[in-house]
Amino acid sequence: MTYSYVSHLYCPKCEAVYDTKQQHQLCTCGSPLLVDYDWDKLKAAWKPEDLLKREPNLWRYHELLPVENETNVVSQGEGMTPLIKMPTLGQDMDVVNLYMKDEGLVPTGTFKARGAAVGISKAKEVGVKEFAMPTNGNAGAAWALYGAKAGIRSTIVMPKDAPKITRNEVALSGANLYLVNGLISDAGKIVGQAVKDFGLYDVSTLKEPYRIEGKKTMGLEIAEQMDWKMPDVILYPTGGGVGLIGIYKALNELKKLGWVEGDLPRLVAVQATGCAPIVKAWQEGKNESEFWANSTTQAFGINVPKALGDFLVLEAIYKTQGCAIAIDDQTMLDEQEKVARLEGSFVCPEGAAVFAAIRQLQKEGWIKNGETVVALNTGAGIKYPDTVSIDVPTLEIGDSIRKEPAAKN
Ligand SMILES: Cc1ncc(COP(=O)(O)O)c(C=O)c1O
Ligand SMILES: [Zn+2]
Repeated sequence: MTYSYVSHLYCPKCEAVYDTKQQHQLCTCGSPLLVDYDWDKLKAAWKPEDLLKREPNLWRYHELLPVENETNVVSQGEGMTPLIKMPTLGQDMDVVNLYMKDEGLVPTGTFKARGAAVGISKAKEVGVKEFAMPTNGNAGAAWALYGAKAGIRSTIVMPKDAPKITRNEVALSGANLYLVNGLISDAGKIVGQAVKDFGLYDVSTLKEPYRIEGKKTMGLEIAEQMDWKMPDVILYPTGGGVGLIGIYKALNELKKLGWVEGDLPRLVAVQATGCAPIVKAWQEGKNESEFWANSTTQAFGINVPKALGDFLVLEAIYKTQGCAIAIDDQTMLDEQEKVARLEGSFVCPEGAAVFAAIRQLQKEGWIKNGETVVALNTGAGIKYPDTVSIDVPTLEIGDSIRKEPAAKN
C-alpha cells in the first residue's frame, strides 16, 4: 500500500520544482515551497469511505500528507478535534449556525502540534539531526517536544514576553532555549544567523515546506466533520498565516479529488489592531503586506509584523471573496469572557479575537442570516493564565459565605 501520494515540491512564485527526498528550505527565488501530490493515482486509490475505520487523528489523511514511510511518523495523537456547535453564543450574536473547531484539545494545547507532528516526521524522514526556529511560544513548545520524541535536537528563540508556560515546555524538552528582548522578527534574525553559523535546519514559519501540510488537516477535518459539505465562512486568527494557507490548500485539494463541490468558504484573516499588516494590505487591495512597526497585542500568537507567506494569505482571501479584520485587545478579552459564560469554553485570546470578529461581521451584514460559520479556536485559554485578571474574596478558616458570590453575572 502506498502510504503517501506526495510527488514533489513546487514554488508558487517561479514554478521551480524540487524533490521530497532531500532537505529543502526556501526556493532559490526566496519564496516558500509548497507540496504537491500525484492526483491521478490518489483519486483512483483513495475514497472518503476509507476514512471510516481510521483512528481519530490527523494521520487518517496520510495519503494526502508528505511522510512517505509510516515508520517515520512521530505522533502524540494530534488532530480530529471536535467541531462544536455554539448555540448560545450564536444566538447572542445572531449567527445561528456557529461552530467552533477547538484546537485547545491538541497535545501541547494549540494547533501548532499539527504542524510540528508532520514537520518533525518529515524532518526525520529526510535525515534532519538538529533544527532551529524563532517562535511566539506555542510553535516552539510543540516543535521542541515533538523534536524530543523524534530524537532531533532543537534551538528555539522566543521573545521574553511570550507566554511563560511555552518557555517551560521548551526548556523541559531539553531544547537550547534563548529569550530575546524583542519580537519574533528579532528572534528570526538571530535564528537566521545561527542557521548559517552552525548548519542547522531552519524550521521558521514557511522556511520548510511541511508545517503547512500538518496545518491543512484542520481544513480536511472541517470538511469531513461537515459530511463533505463546506461551510459558508471560516475565520482564522492570522499571524504567519500558515493555518489559513493550509485550510485553503486543503479545501482546494478536496475539490481536486472531487470530495467536495461548489464554492469554497469565504476565508477570513483575523488580526489584532496592534498588529494588522494583512488587514491593511487587504484594505488597500495589495498582494503583499508591509512590516508593521511597534506591533503589540495580548494575543501573542498573532503578533507577527511581517509574514513570509503574506502573498499566499492574501491570495486565499481574494480567491474566496473573504476579508481581513482587526480586533482590539479589550474587545477580544471581553469576548473571551462571553465565550466562557455562554458556552463554558475557555478559549485563547487569538480564538476570542475570531469570535469578536464574527460578532462584528454579522453586525456589518457581511455574515448573512443563516450562514454556517466556523471559528478556529487555535488554542486553550489555560496556556495564557495572565490574560485574565480576577478579584475574588479570600475567606479565613471558619468564615462563612454571607452573600451571593462576588463574581457578577
Ligand atoms: C494560539 C495561536 N493562534 C494563532 C497563531 C497564528 O498562527 P499562524 O502562523 O498559522 O497564522 C498562533 C501562532 O503562534 C498561535 O499560537
Ligand atoms: Zn521560486
